[in-house]
Amino acid sequence: MANAVTTAVRRREFLPFAPPALGEEEIAEVVDTLRSPWISTGPKTRRFEEEFARFVAAPGALALNSCTAALHTALACLDLRPGDEVITTPLTFAATVNVIEHVGATPVLADIEPDTLNLDPARVAAAITPRTRVLLPVHYAGHPADLDAFQDLARTHGLRIVEDAAHALPASYRGRPIGFGPHPVAFSFYATKNLTTAEGGMLAAEPAFLDRARVLSLHGMSRDAWRRYAKGGSWRYDILAPGFKYNMTDVQASLGLWQLRRQDAFRRRRAEIAAAYTRAFAEDDALQPPVERGDVQHAWHLYALRLHLDRLRIDRDRFIDELTERNIGTSVHFIPIHLHPYYREKYGYEPAAYPVAYDNFQRLVSLPLHPRLSDEDVADVIAAVLDIAREYRR
Ligand SMILES: Cc1ncc(COP(=O)(O)O)c(C=O)c1O
Repeated sequence: MANAVTTAVRRREFLPFAPPALGEEEIAEVVDTLRSPWISTGPKTRRFEEEFARFVAAPGALALNSCTAALHTALACLDLRPGDEVITTPLTFAATVNVIEHVGATPVLADIEPDTLNLDPARVAAAITPRTRVLLPVHYAGHPADLDAFQDLARTHGLRIVEDAAHALPASYRGRPIGFGPHPVAFSFYATKNLTTAEGGMLAAEPAFLDRARVLSLHGMSRDAWRRYAKGGSWRYDILAPGFKYNMTDVQASLGLWQLRRQDAFRRRRAEIAAAYTRAFAEDDALQPPVERGDVQHAWHLYALRLHLDRLRIDRDRFIDELTERNIGTSVHFIPIHLHPYYREKYGYEPAAYPVAYDNFQRLVSLPLHPRLSDEDVADVIAAVLDIAREYRR
């Protein structure tokens, strides 16, 4: 197969899917923290929380060690009981749904919109029962979910909303930044994300909600270690709830402080690359570029290309093999939740239960989309995709 690929469309070096974009300032800030007397949750974490909240216009923010931790803590603060239902999307990472199980509630999946691949408000409306407590939309790939529609449903049925914004920094919906609230919004700073602290996350919410979340996220202690060990601090604390160990460290926050300052420039570059991909792929009817609706600003965390498999002689997996052969790193977002053994067996899901998620999963491929891509890298990705589409045309 290797010989079939012309050198013109095979890069010499493998192009990684999503390497971090860290600068000298991040490195210097980490070193500064390592030389300081305090390396766990402390002054830099607090500063990162304040600057992040300002950046997304949130009423407040709590830095944690992952988005999973932020989602889990948010749901734990809502005091759900066994049998309570949380409606979310099947096209998401396992963490979104695992945390619903962690708090003893029942995940209920509703199918997605065919254009944005986000949770479909009409499907959600049909899935609401007297046991529904929470709606948990995910801003898939960084394209904001239809928040006004979910807010209308929440008002009508007395529900809470928790947003999974792992992909949605920075993004906006009808002029409002994702994170604006007033409900809890969880962000991810995992290594591949738009802002990385290696591992990390942020929970944006109202200050009163965050007071409870802060206590729950650190063992349920009434006072964190930084304040206990600081001069004048007391060694005493009370355990107010059986909490978690989810705090962010100042080493992570050191990365976050500088990554935050780069966000607007990073987003501009990702949007430029996404536009270049879309322009190039629009010509080929085997390729379906992602959409950006008129009333949102997409974070462009992922460029989720869809293949029209009826126009191709190969399936998505083989398309990915061909991209790998041409030295292009890819990924797939996501294997739908209802296909995973744990969920399939526990809830008896059939693949066709969520046809839009199932159909799209089979034709999705995420292309490299990050600010470290040069114009030549982008041209290589385009050339490789078009080459495969041409070679395997039906
Ligand atoms: C949609 C979604 N939600 C949640 C998460 C969990 O993020 P973290 O790894 O920061 O816990 C991810 C991570 O990839 C994700 O893609």
